[in-house]
Amino acid sequence: MSAHPQHDDPAPPRRGAGTRTLGLIVSAAGGAERIRSALVVPAIERGWRVAVTLTPTAGSWLADSGEIEAIAAVTGLPCRVAPRMPTQQPPHPPIDCFLVCPASANTISKLALGIGDSQALTTACEAIGARTAPVVVFPKVNAAHVGHPAWQSHLTALRRAGVRLLLGDEFWPLHPPRSAPVRDLPWRKILGVLDDLVPAR
Ligand SMILES: Cc1cc2nc3c(=O)[nH]c(=O)nc-3n(C[C@H](O)[C@H](O)[C@H](O)COP(=O)(O)O)c2cc1C
Repeated sequence: MSAHPQHDDPAPPRRGAGTRTLGLIVSAAGGAERIRSALVVPAIERGWRVAVTLTPTAGSWLADSGEIEAIAAVTGLPCRVAPRMPTQQPPHPPIDCFLVCPASANTISKLALGIGDSQALTTACEAIGARTAPVVVFPKVNAAHVGHPAWQSHLTALRRAGVRLLLGDEFWPLHPPRSAPVRDLPWRKILGVLDDLVPAR
């Protein structure tokens, strides 16, 4: 399936009875390389349809590994990186819940400020402002990111907007830069949060 549908392509599938659609936004942080096998496929197995959008840097990582095509194949939807042309229809269906995971420190800062300079950020910033579907963010950050003077105000801004931040030792204990522990992201915990927010119908 093309990532760039033409204006006369059929409209993307609409939300149907019994389905819930996850809008997954992936940034260039550790864990992005495993997003298909660790999060997308398990979410589909739990009954989610998954519409994936990558930041440009995450897009370059996953293009290099062939994962963009693999994600499109398992989701049945284009894996978005570039914005659509004005003549093209939006390729993703309406979303019931948004998840930004992994969220880099860079992406979190931009989300807090409302910067939409990529398709991924445009989608996430609109979701935060619209408040029509829950927005969950898993920050994959280290102690230096958190030590930046703007960090706390970014978190405050996002919380005030109703964003659910998956922070703390139960999700990802902080570590100094370049010393990430050899442990996987808490994929099952993250999926559990989504299931609680939007139960299977
Ligand atoms: C191998 C590698 C791993 C990285 N892991 C992280 C990470 O876990 N968290 C983070 O905030 N940045 C991480 N970065 C830095 C981000 O990729 C960088 O800030 C990038 O600009 C983020 O872009 P994006 O937010 O648009 O995806 C990593 C970079 C590399 C090369």
